Amino acid sequence: NGAAQVLVASNRGPVSYAVGEDGSLHAKRGGGGLVSGLSAIGSDADALWVCSALSDGDREAVRRGVGEDGVRMLDIPADVHADAYNGVANSVLWFVHHMLYQTPLEPAFDAEFRRQWTSYETYNRAFAEALAEEAAPGAAVVVQDYHLTLVPGMLRELRPDLRIGHFSHTPWAPPEYFRMLPDDVAGQVLRGMLGADRLGFLTQRWADAFVACAERFAGGLGGTRIGVHGLGADADFLRQRSHEKDVEERMAALREEIGEGRRTIVRVDRTELSKNIVRGLLAYRTLLDSHAEWRERVVHVAFAYPSRQDLAVYRDYTAEVQRLADEINEQYGTPGWTPVVLNLKDDFARSLAAYRLADVALVNPIRDGMNLVAKEVPVVSDAGCALVLSREAGAYEELGEDAITVNPYDVTGTAAALHEALSMRPEERAERAKRLAAAATALPPAQWFLDQLDALRAER
Ligand code: G6P
Repeated sequence: NGAAQVLVASNRGPVSYAVGEDGSLHAKRGGGGLVSGLSAIGSDADALWVCSALSDGDREAVRRGVGEDGVRMLDIPADVHADAYNGVANSVLWFVHHMLYQTPLEPAFDAEFRRQWTSYETYNRAFAEALAEEAAPGAAVVVQDYHLTLVPGMLRELRPDLRIGHFSHTPWAPPEYFRMLPDDVAGQVLRGMLGADRLGFLTQRWADAFVACAERFAGGLGGTRIGVHGLGADADFLRQRSHEKDVEERMAALREEIGEGRRTIVRVDRTELSKNIVRGLLAYRTLLDSHAEWRERVVHVAFAYPSRQDLAVYRDYTAEVQRLADEINEQYGTPGWTPVVLNLKDDFARSLAAYRLADVALVNPIRDGMNLVAKEVPVVSDAGCALVLSREAGAYEELGEDAITVNPYDVTGTAAALHEALSMRPEERAERAKRLAAAATALPPAQWFLDQLDALRAER
């Protein structure tokens, strides 16, 4: 047995490494809800984050024994990791839960998938073994997301004394869609997760879908409890960070690009299929087409940061986003007006700058576990922005009332919603933004994490 009292396990950890030209290692700290959540339990030496080495730099760090206190990176063989992460987690489980398949042709669960599935098992086992080694007697372990669905069951066998939780940051597929998985794989996923004492979801809708799958395909929940924890935005951090000098500088540069006196429609996403960036651009084009009065008077600031570029569909999608943005600029642009300001390079300070300048935030995913952008923009925007929000985002359950809600497939409807948002009286916009910000920050990351820990410790 190890010494850690609280353990988090996730594929992507809180830090990554790059090898510099001189061979030295540079650490880069990540952000996100889990990072601030875990920091809330303090710098207690008894907390440990177990994650994968994802890059050559990470692997080099593990080999050289470089690392941060409280983080253990697993150097899983690169081919095993690629099969598990790209092949199973991101190409199958992510697609199932976000209902992204073009079903006449995919999925096709063939021999290659079977090989990848074996790697997924190996990768999950590596996590379970590391956790079993590091956890103190009776420790609490919170496993994160669809990459690690088998870990709770495997860990339960190795260490029956532990309190095991699992949290899903994605939606959960309804049974009719989930049953696309081969029966044995579906069963393994469900039984793996049901090895946990508690399963956490971002909204009731995803929790209900899981329960329905468990009842139909795994004989019910057994002793496993279900909790809903709607991760909120970190208001203190965002308000402070968005007023730092680098953000102010980027605001000045962006204002220049946007041009004097124009409204802004802002979106910030990973270039992710489920984010529906292409239909967002189509809706914007429809707006310019059907409401000529907005030409020259509005700019769509779209940041779509590279994501999962090992997958061909993601590369193609990124190219399509770029192509469409260029096409709109060509079609409508004038010497003094660029209708779409698209940026594909990741820059957090620049995202915050765009949040501050936003008149309208466009969040139109096909399906999304929560969507934190929807929660962050109303908190940060200087003038109080209007929010156009997909009814398929988890955030809809909390923000639906004060947002302008859309069916993400309805391009015409989304264009109408953009028009409505742009036309909203400033006072109403500001009032709604205030209520949106309050709802968005109701459960800050630290509390979100502590609630789960408390619930887990109260078990057994
Ligand atoms: C989603 C998932 C996370 C994942 C993140 C970024 O939010 O729920 O588990 O870390 O996307 O994706 P990536 O594949 O780059 O880790």
